[in-house]
Amino acid sequence: MPLETRSGLRYLRAMHSITLPRPDDWHLHLRDGAMLKAVLPESARHFARAIIMPNLVPPVVTLDDAVAYRDRILAALPGGMAFEPLMTLYLTEGTDRADVERAAASGLVKAVKLYPAGATTNSHSGVRDLTKVMPVLEVMARIGLPLCTHGEVTDSHVDIFDREAVFIDTVLDPLRRRLPELRVVMEHITTEEGVAYAAGGGANLAATITTHHLIINRNHILAGGIKPHYYCLPVAKREKHRLALRKAATSGLPRYFLGTDSAPHVDALKEHACGCAGCFTATNTMSLLAHVFEEEGALDRLEGFVSHHGPAFYGLPVNQGTITLEKRPEPCAWPEKIHAEPGPVTVFQPGFPVHWHVVT
Ligand code: NCD
Ligand code: ZN
Repeated sequence: MPLETRSGLRYLRAMHSITLPRPDDWHLHLRDGAMLKAVLPESARHFARAIIMPNLVPPVVTLDDAVAYRDRILAALPGGMAFEPLMTLYLTEGTDRADVERAAASGLVKAVKLYPAGATTNSHSGVRDLTKVMPVLEVMARIGLPLCTHGEVTDSHVDIFDREAVFIDTVLDPLRRRLPELRVVMEHITTEEGVAYAAGGGANLAATITTHHLIINRNHILAGGIKPHYYCLPVAKREKHRLALRKAATSGLPRYFLGTDSAPHVDALKEHACGCAGCFTATNTMSLLAHVFEEEGALDRLEGFVSHHGPAFYGLPVNQGTITLEKRPEPCAWPEKIHAEPGPVTVFQPGFPVHWHVVT
């Protein structure tokens, strides 16, 4: 449908400022030590809370690990900034179900993360055989603690562009049939199959979508020279999948919400013969999303995607504070890099000018 025929367009055209409840990021990598210190303000500047990924080395496996990591995050937060880390546990084949139950009861741990072993950065301690973690998953289903899934199979004979769709068919769907009460977040979906599966999954299923997967497809990574800063996992797919993700994110449906998967790696490890996966989008995500939602004629749905749908799924209140973005004639000027002590981290550049400035 041409944009001109959409109702409400006049209103959207006139919209140069939007104020939303302070957003949350439902999938974030903060790392540890000096890197944590450098990247945390980039998220805390705009986001009130984030689901913190546990793939440190060694991983955050137990409640004690999560409490200690949360303390380090809060200690790294600059004075005057407010930010609530929502902790996750890294599921291993040795995870103790009593510890998971205690972690949920503590209120500090909001989810458990499933990494199929070998799927992505620091996933070697992940799960090889799902039957080994069924007792833990049964506890989680009983107490309502969500499972966040990195939804890719790792079999070397499955093409990397098919790994998400194969995961849905061979791992996720059988698991959900066996344990329908288990609450699941399909993290960083990248395919139309992911969008469709999440759409039909009922109240116990949700999906996060990253900022960069709304902007790049696989051509951006590979055509005209390899762009290591666009390489992440799950890898960006064909254009039709990017369009399906845009439709889902801007649909207004509560089962889709933002998880940036902002994942800092120093340039030396991105621009490498065997480059690390991860896009660093914490700095400019809100501006980029306003741009994308406006392009889709759906600025009025940005609020649901970034501020309401996530808290509703996780059973948390919507944030009290607000964030305001203004559309200005001059494009946003982000730093090209964040200067972390371990080395520079390149900020995701969309490749087009963006005019939505975060003003408060
Ligand atoms: C993440 C990382 O670097 O930790 N990388 C990525 O490409 N997304 C891991 C992950 O979430 O898969
Ligand atoms: Zn991630």
